[in-house]
Amino acid sequence: MRSTGSYVTSSTLGESVQAFVPHALPPRGPELATESFAALNHAAELALARLSGVAGLVPSVDWLLYSAIRKEALLTSQIEGTQATLTDLFDGEAGFAVSNTEDVEEVTNYLRAFKLVQENLRSPGGLPISVRLLCEAHRLLLDGARGAGKQPGELRRSQNWIGGTRPGTAAFVPPPPEHVAGLLADLERFVHHEPSPQSVLPALVKIALVHAQFETIHPFLDGNGRIGRLLIAALLEHWALLPEPLMYVSGYLKQHQSEYYRRLSAVREGGDWEGWVAFFLAGVEAAATQAERGIVGIASLVAADRRRLLASPKAGPASYRLFEMLPMMPRFTVERARQSLDTSFPTANAAVQVLEGLGIVAELTGQKKNRSYSYQRYIELLAL
Ligand SMILES: Nc1ncnc2c1ncn2[C@@H]1O[C@H](COP(=O)(O)OP(=O)(O)O)[C@@H](O)[C@H]1O
Ligand SMILES: [Mg+2]
Repeated sequence: MRSTGSYVTSSTLGESVQAFVPHALPPRGPELATESFAALNHAAELALARLSGVAGLVPSVDWLLYSAIRKEALLTSQIEGTQATLTDLFDGEAGFAVSNTEDVEEVTNYLRAFKLVQENLRSPGGLPISVRLLCEAHRLLLDGARGAGKQPGELRRSQNWIGGTRPGTAAFVPPPPEHVAGLLADLERFVHHEPSPQSVLPALVKIALVHAQFETIHPFLDGNGRIGRLLIAALLEHWALLPEPLMYVSGYLKQHQSEYYRRLSAVREGGDWEGWVAFFLAGVEAAATQAERGIVGIASLVAADRRRLLASPKAGPASYRLFEMLPMMPRFTVERARQSLDTSFPTANAAVQVLEGLGIVAELTGQKKNRSYSYQRYIELLAL
C-alpha cells in the first residue's frame, strides 16, 4: 500500500493526538497509475470541449457566466450548510428584503472572493495562484458576522480537527499549525513546476491532486472546503481548460457529498489516490455535461420568449431592451427596470406590463405599490 504521509504527535485542548502530515505531491511509491485515469480524463476533456462549443448558442456569454457563478457560489456554500436559495440570492441583488441575511451574505462573500481571484489571474500585474492570493480570497469569504473569530485571511495558528466533538474522537486531525506554511509552499511549487518531467500528468488530474492535498492540509480555521473548491475553478482558469468559466464541480460534490468525503479520507488512510482522481474526473465530466444541458435549456427558453415578444404588436424598444436584461436581472421592481433602462417611470412600467401580459414575467406581491417581478421559468431552469 502507498503511504501518503506520516503521523506526528500534536497536542490540543490538553489532549495529545496523532496529526497527519501529507507527503508532497505528486503521489509516489508507486506513482499514479496512468491506466487508472486515461479514459476518464479523455471523457472529461471531451465534455469540456463540447461545453465550450455550446456556449455559442446564446447571444451573450455574460448571461451564462452570471448564472453559472451564482449557482456555484450557492452550491459550494450549501455543502457547508448555508440555507440560502437561488431566489434569495437574486432577491438580495434586487434589493428585496430577505429573511436569511447571513446566509445570503455568505454566498455574496464567495462571489467577491471568486471575483478577486479571477481578476488577479487575468491581470498582468495580478497575483498568481499562491498562498497569498488564497489568503486574500479567504479574507473576503469570511468577512462579516459568521467569519469573525475565524481569523479571516490568515493561516491557522492552532490545531484543528474534522468530525467528532473533540480532537481525540475526530475523523481526521490535519497537520499541526507549524507545518501548514511549508506544506502550502510545496503545493504552490507543484502547481507552478511539474516536479518530475518524466511523469507529466494531465491538468485535470493535477487539479484533483491539488484539491485533495489542500483539504488534507486544512490551512484555515474555517472555509477550507469553499477555498479548496475555489482553487479548482482557479486552476481550470490557470491551465486554460475552458475558454470561459462555465463548469463548476460543487453541484456534483454536493450530490455525492458522503463519497466526496470518503474518497478524501481514503487517500490518507489507504493511499488511494487513484480512487479520488477517478471520482473527480467522473465529476468533471458529469458537471460539464450538466452545464451543457442547462445552457441548451436556457437558450431555448429565452429564444422562445424572444420570439413571442417580437411577434407582439404591443412590444416596443423598451420592452425589447428590458427583456435582454432579464437573464442578469431575473427579479426586479419597476424602479430597478427604470434605472437599468435609464428611462422614465411610465416607459419602464409600460415595458414591464408588456412582458407581464405575455406571461414572460410574473408579479409576485399582488400589491399596487412596490410591485416585484420575476422571470420565474428562467430561475426554475437554473435551479435544476
Ligand atoms: N475526511 C476528510 N478529509 C479531508 N478533507 C475533508 C474530509 N471531510 C471533509 N473534508 C473537507 O473539509 C471541508 C469542510 O471544511 P471547512 O473548513 O468547514 O470548510 P468550509 O467552512 O468551507 O466548510 C469539506 O467541504 C471537505 O472539502
Ligand atoms: Mg465550515
